[in-house]
Amino acid sequence: MQTIFSGIQPSGSLSIGNYLGAMKQFVDLQDEHHCYFCIVDEHAITVPQDRLKLRENIRSLAALYLASGIDPNKATLFIQSEVSAHTQLGWIMQTQSYIGELERMTQFKDKSHGKEGVSSALLTYPPLMAADILLYNTDIVPVGNDQKQHLELTRDLAERFNRKFNDIFTIPEVKISEVGARIMSLQEPTKKMSKSDENQKATVFMLDEPKKIEKKIKSAVTDSEGIVRFDPIDKPGVSNLLTILSSCTNTSIKDLEAKYVGVGYGDFKQDVANAVLDILVPIQKRYYAIIDSETLDDILDDGRDKATAVAEKTLKKAKKAMGLGRVVKRN
Ligand code: TYM
Repeated sequence: MQTIFSGIQPSGSLSIGNYLGAMKQFVDLQDEHHCYFCIVDEHAITVPQDRLKLRENIRSLAALYLASGIDPNKATLFIQSEVSAHTQLGWIMQTQSYIGELERMTQFKDKSHGKEGVSSALLTYPPLMAADILLYNTDIVPVGNDQKQHLELTRDLAERFNRKFNDIFTIPEVKISEVGARIMSLQEPTKKMSKSDENQKATVFMLDEPKKIEKKIKSAVTDSEGIVRFDPIDKPGVSNLLTILSSCTNTSIKDLEAKYVGVGYGDFKQDVANAVLDILVPIQKRYYAIIDSETLDDILDDGRDKATAVAEKTLKKAKKAMGLGRVVKRN
């Protein structure tokens, strides 16, 4: 059975971009793979976070994983900072990373551009991400399109380490879903939908009230052509809505284009809103049933223990291969 690892930052409420690009794939994969899903809180602190809000977001993300269909009997769900091997291997992977290649990462450039007081952890974020993945002998990493570059670097770092020291790490493959890998902003559809967008109307959050979700989708930016057609260059708004509808209903974009011949944007948008609500309303119900439960803590305790057992083994091998620590002389 192949091993899957993926992570989501608890850096705010999750968007339908996170769901359609990442989480939805996770749920589909857990039946036939050995899965680890992580709440990567140590990544979130690479930019300033409010302490209490961060705590809340960590728990909320754990509950959302479960509400979206992650089954703790099938997959290991855990919090990154509760498994200390992540930062330890993260440090080791930093020793194998060049400053130049880290500076070339688009996410670093975007998040640091024009900012003062950029943390050095923002630069060394990708070696920590590589550690997350490599600790579990991961074969496949399901992510949205924006993480592709980090995955390429992870493979480079793993290969570099294996060549220099010993063949310790499995080289992971990236898995990007065909539809939904890049959900765009509802207000500026040439820009990625982001959970940290200042314009609240641009992003549908998974926990938005149903009325709000409907309103946001109905006021999504489109164009004046009035034809429901997939053309991301000339019709980015309509194409984004088609992508969302396709991903929510598992219907091909081609079939949707055929279905909406002669239908106006108003009715089309209503159908998109209904499809999103059909997915999110049941998730929200399950979320509120679990968020304050002890079960959630039991699941996270269990996940931490299972993840620690595997991660410690890999970390030990990597340390030994590099010559860290000592050989005990005592019998
Ligand atoms: P993060 O927290 O930004 O996003 C979590 C996942 O959601 C995907 N995603 C999207 N997919 C489609 N459309 C969008 N608009 C959209 N926005 C976000 C992301 O691609 C991602 O899959 N560095 C990672 C977290 C991480 C990680 C890892 C992932 C840390 N360690 C190890 C995989 C493996 C991040 O910031 O994701």
